[in-house]
Amino acid sequence: MTPTPATPAIRRSDWWLVFRKFLKHGTSIATFVPSSKFLGRQIIAGIDFDTVKCLVELGAGTGPITVELLKRVKSHTKLLIVELDPDFCRRLRERFPNADIIEGDAAHLDELLKGRGITQVDHVISGLPLPSFPPEVRASIIESATKVLAPHGTFRQLTVIPLVYWKLYRTYFPDVRFKLVPLNFPPAGVYVCKPEVR
Ligand SMILES: C[S@@+](CC[C@H](N)C(=O)[O-])C[C@H]1O[C@@H](n2cnc3c(N)ncnc32)[C@H](O)[C@@H]1O
Repeated sequence: MTPTPATPAIRRSDWWLVFRKFLKHGTSIATFVPSSKFLGRQIIAGIDFDTVKCLVELGAGTGPITVELLKRVKSHTKLLIVELDPDFCRRLRERFPNADIIEGDAAHLDELLKGRGITQVDHVISGLPLPSFPPEVRASIIESATKVLAPHGTFRQLTVIPLVYWKLYRTYFPDVRFKLVPLNFPPAGVYVCKPEVR
């Protein structure tokens, strides 16, 4: 599925929407600009798009990671995008009319997928600001994701505060690797977390 490229006008209105949401909701957005394409590409780096069967993106916002996923994903792969905010969902549906956008809470991921007959996911790609959530909310989101994550799978988490949360993710996953992405505003990074040490 090839997404239509974002024009400068779309990019400006996406920035404005994220900024307004940040002012209104603060910690549940936790950033005031959409991620860069470099961050979008790094968070999906290493995924084998030839073999992958199911991918889930959590907290898609205006879709800077979604667009990179849609460029790479093949017809045999199911891609589900979970976003809580109705305005972001509307924006995602306008931008990606053929994508499967679920307006819902990532904390109920396993149930959202069960309702669609999906029991296993190869990779979960998270744009959620997990460290700024209360610990019990963060734990329920990670628990719900690990329930459906394949043993060979990964939970991929972006951050705009590089490296600081490595220890936090190690409390949930036995294997956590970090990759810096300087070409983002602000400089960012990606944690790739595995449910098993490989
Ligand atoms: C930091 S923004 C990231 C947006 C986008 N992925 C990016 O990289 O620019 C976090 C997103 O997570 C969404 N979100 C927050 N809590 C959520 C939840 N419990 N379930 C699903 N989405 C959530 C917010 O609405 C927002 O779109």
